[in-house]
Amino acid sequence: MNKHNYFMQQAIDLAKLGKGHTFPNPAVGCVIVKNNEIISTGFHECYGGYHAEKNAILNAKESLTGASLYVNLEPCAHFGKQPPCCNLIVESKLSKVFYSSIDPNPQVASQGVEYLEKHGVKTYGNILAKKAFELNEAFFYHTITGKPLVAAKWAQSIDGKIFTYTKESKWITGEKSRQYVHELRNNHQAIMVGANTLNADNPQLNVRMVANAGNPIKIIVSSTGNINLHSRIFNDNNNIIIGTTEKIPSKIEAELKTKNCQLIKTTAHNNQVNLEELLIELGKLGIISVFIEGGAELLKSFILQNLINKAFVFIAPTLISGNNNSLINENIFAELKNTPKYILKDTQIFDNDILIEYLAPTYNQWKDLCLAELLKKSVV
Ligand SMILES: NC(=O)c1ccc[n+]([C@@H]2O[C@H](COP(=O)([O-])OP(=O)(O)OC[C@H]3O[C@@H](n4cnc5c(N)ncnc54)[C@H](OP(=O)(O)O)[C@@H]3O)[C@@H](O)[C@H]2O)c1
Repeated sequence: MNKHNYFMQQAIDLAKLGKGHTFPNPAVGCVIVKNNEIISTGFHECYGGYHAEKNAILNAKESLTGASLYVNLEPCAHFGKQPPCCNLIVESKLSKVFYSSIDPNPQVASQGVEYLEKHGVKTYGNILAKKAFELNEAFFYHTITGKPLVAAKWAQSIDGKIFTYTKESKWITGEKSRQYVHELRNNHQAIMVGANTLNADNPQLNVRMVANAGNPIKIIVSSTGNINLHSRIFNDNNNIIIGTTEKIPSKIEAELKTKNCQLIKTTAHNNQVNLEELLIELGKLGIISVFIEGGAELLKSFILQNLINKAFVFIAPTLISGNNNSLINENIFAELKNTPKYILKDTQIFDNDILIEYLAPTYNQWKDLCLAELLKKSVV
């Protein structure tokens, strides 16, 4: 690994420390290097907090004159929750900035790089750009499309069943898989389930078994408001969104509001919540990623409407059997040539289980195009 990639890798590793806390901002890390040695580091610790560059500059114990800064996203040149990092970099007399890719946010896009160059700081882009993009793919996706990145997760047996005929699904997979699900939860800004899963499983939908975990927003989808108001998710009284329709009875709506829930009412689609509309509204609220944890009916709607960007499928080596307990219990495709062809992204083994990560072909294409465009704009 050349030295620029090495230092950028350190910045990316630092960025990961902020995961779960920076939404809707990206995870960003920064190292400052002088005479080939790291003299200071920093990362964006939480939304509204100092940016990575500012933390690294403030953490420095020696003069930064002539030093190089490595950061996994173009430094900002605009006033947001924080003043622009570019001014601080110039004032601190740093001489070079190495960055992974430009920031697609129109308020930043190339303006940070231009400002630095104009003020005598040399800039170099495309350092570990693909890795940096992967780390913040939801940020890029939301900034460019306005919609949250949608990831689905389910656990199934080798015969493709996601619960028993008596509706039992706890637990199909082993403990290691379940622990990893908490990491996946922490990587997303919101967790979504259908009303039946909430009512049947009474899940907490929080992040456990992860150090320094964030607190994802919980989203329940119910067109009729058929929601158990004594569910555990209402205990902590915050961060809950209900995706619903005009069919919700006003009494339930009022009760949900007393529990601090935010309601998003969509038009009806097949007599249920219009999921595309719901995603657009979530995007407008600044939600950059949604992790859908079931159940079958909700996942089926998302998948058949092509609204999933990626899927995490856990497969346990067991047989569950049954007629009506697969992910999709309908005859949809008569010919193999018409079936969706997902892209295999990754596999992992957790004890006895396999996790397969798939990308939807349209999302895979979008990613390639987006990355190529960003690389073109990030001058080497
Ligand atoms: N193996 C796994 O990974 C896994 C994960 C989660 C759950 N599960 C199991 O799955 C079972 C529950 O699944 P389920 O299929 O019965 O229900 P579900 O998907 O959890 O919830 C379905 C409900 O969501 C509401 N909804 C609103 N808009 C919708 C839309 N556009 N598309 C789909 N649903 C919409 C509907 O209720 P309204 O009438 O209120 O609109 C619908 O009845 C449980 O037994 C649970 O244990 C398994």
